[in-house]
Amino acid sequence: MFGNISILFAHLGFAAAALLRVCAAVSAEEDKADYSGDQVYRVFTHNASALVHDMIRPVVGSQYDVWMQNDKFVDVRLGRDAFAEIARENSLEYEVYVSDIEAAIRDTMPGNSQYDVNSDSMQHAFGSYGGDLFFDEYRDLHTIDLWLQLLEQTYPSLVKLEQITTTPEGHPLNVVHVSAQNTEANPDKKTIVISGGLHAREWISVSTTLFMLQRLLQEYGQDKSTTHYLDSLDFLFIPVFNPDGYEYSWHGDRLWRKNRQATGVEQCPGIDLDRSFNYEWDESEAHEYPCSESYNGGAPFAAAETKAWHEYLGGIKGDYRIFGYLDLHSYSEEILYPYGYSCEAVPRDFENLLELAFGLAKAVRLTTRKNYDVVAACKDAGSDLTPGMGGGSALDYMYHNRARWALQLKLRDTGSHGFLLPPKFIRPVGHEIYAALRYFCGFILNPEM
Ligand SMILES: *[C@@H]1O[C@H](CO)[C@@H](O)[C@H](O)[C@H]1NC(C)=O
Ligand SMILES: [Zn+2]
Repeated sequence: MFGNISILFAHLGFAAAALLRVCAAVSAEEDKADYSGDQVYRVFTHNASALVHDMIRPVVGSQYDVWMQNDKFVDVRLGRDAFAEIARENSLEYEVYVSDIEAAIRDTMPGNSQYDVNSDSMQHAFGSYGGDLFFDEYRDLHTIDLWLQLLEQTYPSLVKLEQITTTPEGHPLNVVHVSAQNTEANPDKKTIVISGGLHAREWISVSTTLFMLQRLLQEYGQDKSTTHYLDSLDFLFIPVFNPDGYEYSWHGDRLWRKNRQATGVEQCPGIDLDRSFNYEWDESEAHEYPCSESYNGGAPFAAAETKAWHEYLGGIKGDYRIFGYLDLHSYSEEILYPYGYSCEAVPRDFENLLELAFGLAKAVRLTTRKNYDVVAACKDAGSDLTPGMGGGSALDYMYHNRARWALQLKLRDTGSHGFLLPPKFIRPVGHEIYAALRYFCGFILNPEM
């Protein structure tokens, strides 16, 4: 492990400079989004559409944000005065879920000391992989990119970092290949793809992807089944699928969801990456409005990030046989299976797909006792008020075109913090989803599948 330490110090200068830039960006930020007047409410209703269109919109216009909905309740963020009025007039049954959004936002940010640029704090941030202090906090884009470079240099025979494009705002979109290059055990390059951060504010999906990446590498050669999985499977990790959005969620608006691309409406940038894939891309007008949180970009693959991924997959066709796909999101503790665009479309090999999904849920339960529900993706609406998750999702695209088995995981929690999950949950969630990944590997490598 001494080799790692010297690499670490070699990077200190560069790392410190990067963090300095981050500090400057923070202090120069003048118009950061301010949510001090808002709360997140869970409103118990069977008709989300009526709540939003008939009760909320007439009062606040577009000044609200549906965080999550199902057939029992809707989690919605809006101003407290407006909500008090709406709740009174409509006799709503509700609970306050996030009462102080600004405080909850602050709680997701690393403590101030971590931004001090000195070698001590750097050692804490990148310390030893064994101690993984890295996972004490969520990390910003620069820190993650730096950490990935360190990982590549620490595990040169297992890790290859590849930048598949530069985003519109100039950030690298990185894919991390993990391969033991064991041509005997994995002759046809069976591969699992794992993505996080399609939606910028879902930070736990990013940290969980990084956590799994690190555990896999640490355990190779140490843990018997991990060694078997890594010998028999290749992995492609995309920890931050939406780098521009992620960066903006740190320094502009913590609750930002889309990417940051121009849309033609100047005050409403951003395309929802999870609506921009070409499979069953949604032509209905629900997603055509650039100011919508689920704006589909106006054409399939209008988003630079998903287009780059599509082209990348086209380019490596034949080099990898993608067997599995896990797309990480938050929140609600659910395992979603395809398809998202329609409940009428029946996934192939349905029984086995369900068995897989329940197997993942069980692996989670045995690890942390959390109960993730298994749900059809079409039943999950996210911030979408039309039935179904909508077309153009990463899940449907990967399942239809590329991956034999594909699932979307919606991580913790069930709404107490929602998107603003405190960093103390990074490790528990990492552990439970890593257990699910191990189950996934075992399932794929089962000769009967
Ligand atoms: C929900 O409310 C809308 C009115 O906003 C109505 O048109 C629709 O039929 C209702 N749906 C159900 C299932 O009751
Ligand atoms: Zn999401």
